[in-house]
Amino acid sequence: MEKELRSLLLPWYDAHRRLLPWRDVRNPYATWVSEVMLQQTRVETVRAYYPRFMARFPDVKALAEAPEEAVLKQWEGLGYYRRARNLQLGAQQVMREYGGVIPATVPELLRIQGIGAYTAGAIASIAFNQPVAAVDGNVIRVVSRLMDLRENVGIPSVRRSLDAQAAALVDPLRPGDFNQAMMDLGATICVPGTPDCDRCPLSPLCRARAQGDPEELPVLPRKKPPKALDWDVCLLRAGDRLLVRRRTEPMLEGLWVFPMTEGHRTAAQLPGAVKRLTGLRVTDAEPLGEARHIFTHQVWQMKLWALRTEATAAPEGWRFVTLEELRGLTCPTAMRAAIRAAESLLPR
Ligand code: ADE
Repeated sequence: MEKELRSLLLPWYDAHRRLLPWRDVRNPYATWVSEVMLQQTRVETVRAYYPRFMARFPDVKALAEAPEEAVLKQWEGLGYYRRARNLQLGAQQVMREYGGVIPATVPELLRIQGIGAYTAGAIASIAFNQPVAAVDGNVIRVVSRLMDLRENVGIPSVRRSLDAQAAALVDPLRPGDFNQAMMDLGATICVPGTPDCDRCPLSPLCRARAQGDPEELPVLPRKKPPKALDWDVCLLRAGDRLLVRRRTEPMLEGLWVFPMTEGHRTAAQLPGAVKRLTGLRVTDAEPLGEARHIFTHQVWQMKLWALRTEATAAPEGWRFVTLEELRGLTCPTAMRAAIRAAESLLPR
């Protein structure tokens, strides 16, 4: 099976591969950065971020030595910001433990902060030509269908078996191309929902296709529905400045947000809640509209408010910033509507 599969897949890849800026560069740092970006983000989005990130942090040393704020700023809008912090921690570790040279084997790569099985396999195969698999969601789908694997891939033993089958398929001569071909196939043809089997180079080998229901695979673990949270988001003005805070919570850690209180309050109730949150006396609560942001595990329903304070000094843990200063901070996409409201609220 695997010889025939390689002989069908690789010519298809040579003819149809997507032209992506991180391909065809033999640079493990470039592979690392691109694979981390691609983990939870669509290729089209990464296309825009990757060249800017590489221009700003061209190698492991530049990334290791950059201020964390600068790294987050380059990541702004990509989401899953822990990836960016881990990437920098990993770069610092490579400087310390490997003199700045990214190691070539999976066991060594796995010891680096933020590098898991998928990323280790991707770097080892793409940048170092090691015959190992890189199993992401696309590859899980392709292999499940190919092998007609009907068990839930969330079960560890099932997943281990899938990983072993994927590893056995990898072309020993072109492992990086093979893995990326599987990913491209999963992204463009062997898609969730309705796979385009008529265009698939592997359809003669595909067992789920022979069964007639490839769209039913893979069997994935049931996802919990995202948690709905209500917030009042406060544009709290002191003159031409707004109060902000750098988050320390695990979610959106290191990113700047406006004061937020959970739940929805009336204009009369809000100043008291903001006082409890910030310690500041505030007045003049006026509604500015609503916004919604969908995260993987949460949905935020936000009411935006304008408020005022006479305070001049920011309380401990907070900062008053001008619009200009706000633009230099890294803010989550969830704050975008609030920032737009702030831009129309304040004189420029
Ligand atoms: N998704 C994640 N990494 C990828 C790669 N190298 N090529 C195509 N899709 C990907």
